Amino acid sequence: MKKIAFVLLVLAIFAAVFTFDACYYDNEEVLYGATGTCDTVGVKYSTYVSKLVSDNCLSCHIAGGTQETSPFDGYTNLTVYVSSGKFLERINDIGSPMPPSGLLPSCDRQKIEAWIKAGAANN
Ligand code: HEC
Repeated sequence: MKKIAFVLLVLAIFAAVFTFDACYYDNEEVLYGATGTCDTVGVKYSTYVSKLVSDNCLSCHIAGGTQETSPFDGYTNLTVYVSSGKFLERINDIGSPMPPSGLLPSCDRQKIEAWIKAGAANN
């Protein structure tokens, strides 16, 4: 009988932990997601886009990487995929996201989109 009580207690703790986890994740989405606080004005390749790509994509998308057939290092390489629409498509693709580990935060994606909509300049 004591064993059953112990198992139930462990299960309850697991349930509580996962429930709080889920709530926290939701809050994070609300906080950093579509709250309208994402500043997408004046996004530049030199100060924002190249760094984001370097931090999140170049580990694979570069000569010698696992995805060297689609290199994103440098403005010229990157804009091939910006022009084709594939870059924007895959960073917003829930079913097949890039990076493969999961979609970037919403604000990062909004900034990239703003840069592209403004003409994807080498600014
Ligand atoms: C861990 C390795 C890895 C990282 C990091 C990564 N990718 Fe990829 N990417 C791949 C692989 C593997 C493929 C080919 C398979 C596929 O299309 O899903 C690919 C394919 C793509 C394609 C399609 C290329 C084509 O020729 O059609 C795009 C666009 C893309 N990735 C964008 C990105 C962007 C943008 C980032 C960063 C925000 C990123 N990827 C980060 C591994 C990665």
